[in-house]
Amino acid sequence: MNRQAYVPADKPGELERLQLQSRVWEPSGRRLLGEIGEGQGARVLDVGCGALCWLRVLSDWVGSDGEVVGTDIDDSMLDAAGQFVAETGLTNVLLIKDDLFHSGLEPSSFDLVHARFQIAPLGRGPEQMAAHLRLVRPGGTAALEEIDPLSWHFLPPAPALVAPLSRGAEVRGLIPLLGEALHRAGGDPDAAATQLNLFRDAGIEVNVRAEVQALPPGHPYLGMPLQFAAELNEQLRSLVGAAELNRLLQEAERELQDPDRWGLTFTLVQCWGRRAT
Ligand SMILES: C[S@@+](CC[C@H](N)C(=O)[O-])C[C@H]1O[C@@H](n2cnc3c(N)ncnc32)[C@H](O)[C@@H]1O
Repeated sequence: MNRQAYVPADKPGELERLQLQSRVWEPSGRRLLGEIGEGQGARVLDVGCGALCWLRVLSDWVGSDGEVVGTDIDDSMLDAAGQFVAETGLTNVLLIKDDLFHSGLEPSSFDLVHARFQIAPLGRGPEQMAAHLRLVRPGGTAALEEIDPLSWHFLPPAPALVAPLSRGAEVRGLIPLLGEALHRAGGDPDAAATQLNLFRDAGIEVNVRAEVQALPPGHPYLGMPLQFAAELNEQLRSLVGAAELNRLLQEAERELQDPDRWGLTFTLVQCWGRRAT
């Protein structure tokens, strides 16, 4: 099996997808922060912030007396995030190029460390959690968000995207194949469950909440499976062959063009807990 680090970058499509995705999930981030508590004046970190992630949400949460640090390993991500921060006037946000596995940030210096969709693509959960916890101050909070795909489907059903259960396991559709493709690319398709265990293994009492969104016809985020499939094209081809993949993609595109089709997103599983004092 060809397992390699999956770090999709330097593709305009990936930047756009991450910004759209970030906007879609901003209300969910605000709800999670509401449960974590008061953030005014806090110093917080968004690890692997990509093109936006929680930067705006955290900026509002910590207020003008607080500081948000966003890190990423990829220059094009940081450029896109920087442009957003400048255009939106987020004066309390600082962007730093930093590899989470060899971080140059000061240990135990953040009140909150957040990372979203990082375990799924990188597949190094225990190392990632250890890296995050090194940066959280005693008594501070670590928060992770990952994908559970089971809720991800369409109304009316779209069999090329995800086959209804009644059609049997052999006809699965593109979305279930994405998990296998991600695994082939070195990622962790079970990241939602993995993150929960990472808190337990670190001896941290874990809180869990979940969010699913209904997407009306025409919503641009309905097309997310196709964008994700483009990034995992090589692995998908190795799974089903080029001809079957083309057929699935064409059929999925046709399904998405249906002006009456709604969608439900994957489940965003949010976990958080406090480091011992
Ligand atoms: C799937 S994207 C998620 C981006 C963002 N967290 C979000 O939810 O919108 C993964 C991000 O992790 C970044 N990344 C990958 N390896 C990294 C590393 N070793 N250190 C820091 N960031 C990394 C990638 O450049 C990319 O921006």
